[in-house]
Amino acid sequence: MGQLERKTAIITGGGTGIGRAIAKRFHNEGATVLICGRRMNMLKETAESIDPNSPRILCVKTDVTDEKEIEHLYKSAMSKSGRIDILVNNAGVMRFGSLAETPLDDWDLMMKTNTWGPWRLMVNVLPYMKKAGGGSIINISSIAGIKSYPGAGIYCASKAAMQVISQVVAMENAGDNIRVNCILPAVVEDTELSNPIFGEENVPAFWDKLRPLHPLGRNGKPDDIAEAALFFATDQSSWITGTLLNVDGGRHMATNRPAD
Ligand SMILES: NC(=O)c1ccc[n+]([C@@H]2O[C@H](COP(=O)([O-])OP(=O)(O)OC[C@H]3O[C@@H](n4cnc5c(N)ncnc54)[C@H](OP(=O)(O)O)[C@@H]3O)[C@@H](O)[C@H]2O)c1
Repeated sequence: MGQLERKTAIITGGGTGIGRAIAKRFHNEGATVLICGRRMNMLKETAESIDPNSPRILCVKTDVTDEKEIEHLYKSAMSKSGRIDILVNNAGVMRFGSLAETPLDDWDLMMKTNTWGPWRLMVNVLPYMKKAGGGSIINISSIAGIKSYPGAGIYCASKAAMQVISQVVAMENAGDNIRVNCILPAVVEDTELSNPIFGEENVPAFWDKLRPLHPLGRNGKPDDIAEAALFFATDQSSWITGTLLNVDGGRHMATNRPAD
C-alpha cells in the first residue's frame, strides 16, 4: 500500500521540472494528483509520462496569479475527490538583474507568482483541510530565500517572503493539524527555470559552472526535491511544521569557493 493512498494533492507548476517529479512520486504512492500550470500541453505531457490511463491524475490549466483560476483549481479538486489533503506550492519564476536595473514588471511577476499565488492558494485550501481533519502544505522556496545573491535580489525577496508567510500560516493553523513546511533547493537541473534568462542552449554551461559550489559535488535533480516533498506529505513528518529544509547538496553552508 502506498504512503498516500486516499489522499488528494494539488501541485502547482506540475507540467515541468520539480513539479512533474513531485506529481509522479505522489501518484506512485497512491495519491490523486491535480497538476496545474499555464500550459496545458506540458500538464498533459506530465500525465502521459506518469500513466496515460490513470483516473488519479487531473490536469487543470491554472495561472496562480489569477484569483478566479485559483478558485477553479480548488473547486476542481473538491469535485474530483471531495477533499484536499496536500498542497504543493511549486510554481515559480526567476528573472535576473541588479536591484538598480530590475524592471518594475519583473518585481510584479516574481512577487505575484512566488509569493502572492502561494498565499492565496494556502488561505483558500485551509477550510477544506480543516474539514478533512488536517493537511500538509509544502512550499518550494529556495536557498535564495536565506542568501543574498547579487543579480537575483527580487527573486530572493519573493522566496524570503514566502518563507515568512508559510511560518505564519503554520502558526495560525497548527491547532487544526495543518502543517506548513518549506523546501529550499539549490541548483536543480532538468528544469526550465533558467531558460528565459540564459537561453535554453546556454543553461547546461550554467549548471556546469555551479556544480562545484555544492559541497556534495553535484547539482540537484527534481527527484531529490520530490523525496523531501513526500516526507512532508506523509505522517513521517507529523511533528514537523514551520520548517525551512535545505535540500541543496550543502550549498547553504558553502562559500563561492569550490571544496578542496
Ligand atoms: N531549478 C532550480 O534550480 C531551483 C532552485 C531553487 C528553487 N527552485 C524553485 O522550484 C520551483 C519549481 O521550479 P523548477 O525548477 O521545476 O522550474 P520550472 O521547470 O521552470 O518550473 C516552474 C513551473 O511553474 C509554472 N508556472 C510559472 N508561472 C506560473 C503561473 N503564473 N501559474 C501557474 N504555474 C506557473 C511553469 O509552468 P507554466 O509556464 O506552464 O505555467 C512551470 O511548470 C520554483 O518555485 C522555483 O523557484 C528551483
